[in-house]
Amino acid sequence: MFQQSIKGSVGKSLKPIVALRFNSSKVTPPPPQPPNSHNDTTHFGFKTVNKQDKEKLVGGVFSSVASNYDLMNDVMSAGIHRLWKHHFIKKLNAGKRPNSVEPLEFLDVAGGTGDIAFGLLANAEENFGDYESKMTIADINPDMLKEGELRYKKSKWSDSDRVEFLVQNGETMNKIPDNSKDVYTIAFGIRNFTNIQAGLNTAYRVLKPGGIFACLEFSQIDNPVLDYAYQAYSFSILPLMGQLIANDRDSYQYLVESIRKFPKQEEFKKMIEKAGFYVPEPGYENLTFGVAAIHIGIKI
Ligand SMILES: C[S@@+](CC[C@H](N)C(=O)[O-])C[C@H]1O[C@@H](n2cnc3c(N)ncnc32)[C@H](O)[C@@H]1O
Repeated sequence: MFQQSIKGSVGKSLKPIVALRFNSSKVTPPPPQPPNSHNDTTHFGFKTVNKQDKEKLVGGVFSSVASNYDLMNDVMSAGIHRLWKHHFIKKLNAGKRPNSVEPLEFLDVAGGTGDIAFGLLANAEENFGDYESKMTIADINPDMLKEGELRYKKSKWSDSDRVEFLVQNGETMNKIPDNSKDVYTIAFGIRNFTNIQAGLNTAYRVLKPGGIFACLEFSQIDNPVLDYAYQAYSFSILPLMGQLIANDRDSYQYLVESIRKFPKQEEFKKMIEKAGFYVPEPGYENLTFGVAAIHIGIKI
């Protein structure tokens, strides 16, 4: 079942999986905490906020940037986010192989305006003649999904029933059954979660055995000189661009700060393993010196 699912879904780069380990560790629920203790707070960028408020604050950011999101991404990254996403899609190379019977069930979480979801469908068609696999685009923010739906209506998939949009919190995904998805992708979304480990545990829950978890996220640069230059660019230029182009400095300030707060590559890899995934060596792939990274996990 495991081998079949791998063969039927992802590219060669993920096939040579040996010495599979089964990590059966379950996440023990934390003991109850008194109100207002340290465990009731989290970060929202560099600010400390109550955990219960973060979802709303993040929602405010993405509702605010939704209509300019694609344009701003291009401007702020000089188009590099497109190269990263293209590489991510090609690396996964997912699609129903001609000798497989079942179409794939894709789930793109924090899917926003749909770059990854539509890219995956197009890749499956081009490389495998897969016109059957289905895509669920889930996002907590209806405004971001609305932008995705506008793109979908103009796309070649608009007449098919292959794409579904769902407003869902990636930490819980209560509309997605256990063991139901073949490929779970999340791009530039998980760092916004209040509880990242809960999001990873949920990814594990919804994937079928042998299913693939793939995350593209901003990460940390190892080289201190490059990191200094990158920080200088992100903290001074990006909020300013947000101000000038979208008249929204605060949202872009949050986006920059949230990148800084996201766990480093090794730490995030351990969190993926803690959720139960097998992480193939070398554990992650750095893009552009670690400005972003791809993490892959396989449900065993
Ligand atoms: C930076 S955008 C990325 C959109 C898209 N994946 C892309 O790569 O262009 C981050 C997305 O994460 C979504 N998001 C934030 N927290 C979420 C959560 N807890 N569950 C689901 N989506 C979430 C936001 O609404 C937003 O659409």
